[in-house]
Amino acid sequence: MTITIAIDGPAASGKSTIAKQIAKKLNITYIDTGAMYRGVTLAILKRGIEVDNVQEIRNILNNIELDFNFVNGVQHLFLDGQDAEEEIRSIEVSQNVSAVSALDFVREKLVDLQRKMAEKQSVVMDGRDIGTVVLPKADFKFFFIASPEIRAQRRYDENIARGINTQTFEELKQDIIRRDEYDSTREHSPLKQADDAIAVDTGLLSIEENVEYVLSLIQKTN
Ligand code: CDP
Repeated sequence: MTITIAIDGPAASGKSTIAKQIAKKLNITYIDTGAMYRGVTLAILKRGIEVDNVQEIRNILNNIELDFNFVNGVQHLFLDGQDAEEEIRSIEVSQNVSAVSALDFVREKLVDLQRKMAEKQSVVMDGRDIGTVVLPKADFKFFFIASPEIRAQRRYDENIARGINTQTFEELKQDIIRRDEYDSTREHSPLKQADDAIAVDTGLLSIEENVEYVLSLIQKTN
């Protein structure tokens, strides 16, 4: 028997941190769909293509190779055979990813890949449209929320820990707010809570408490 867990929510709402730990505790696969959209965005930027050049993006999309591989026990996104885990989290990619992820043909390709990954194994998958579009029949659906201040602080701390310190807290917060607005108002698969998703305010508890809370909801109804 397989289980599927969908986690959606706005930028830096704690999805990947919590999803990774849930995957570990349940011994199932974690799939970071945001990393896939970031990977396509990085590929476009690396090829010198503007993110509004829809025709060129369409032309190269099938030549972009995305994979997940483990490096020292940590899942990394590989782009065209190269470890791109660092680069996909750059400020430039963060500032351009929403424009790329709004393109219907990009979504079609990645959603197809995501569904295939979830077909034969138990997964916890996080993103913006997992509970609404990718896995509408997921066994468990969560929608994470937290204030823009808390989310910006988390991402700021993460960036500092990774040696990225070229943005002030305020600039980062504005980027996050802009990205949420873009993701929530786009035409195709906007960021939206599924009717049957459980909302979790991740700003109220510590990471460990959030993980325990989500696991308790899964175990209670399983
Ligand atoms: O980690 P963070 O919350 O900042 O974002 P992410 O999960 O890495 O996603 C980056 C971007 O990819 C989002 O802002 C969306 O534009 C897009 N995305 C999407 O459209 N659909 C998904 N299922 C996942 C991400």
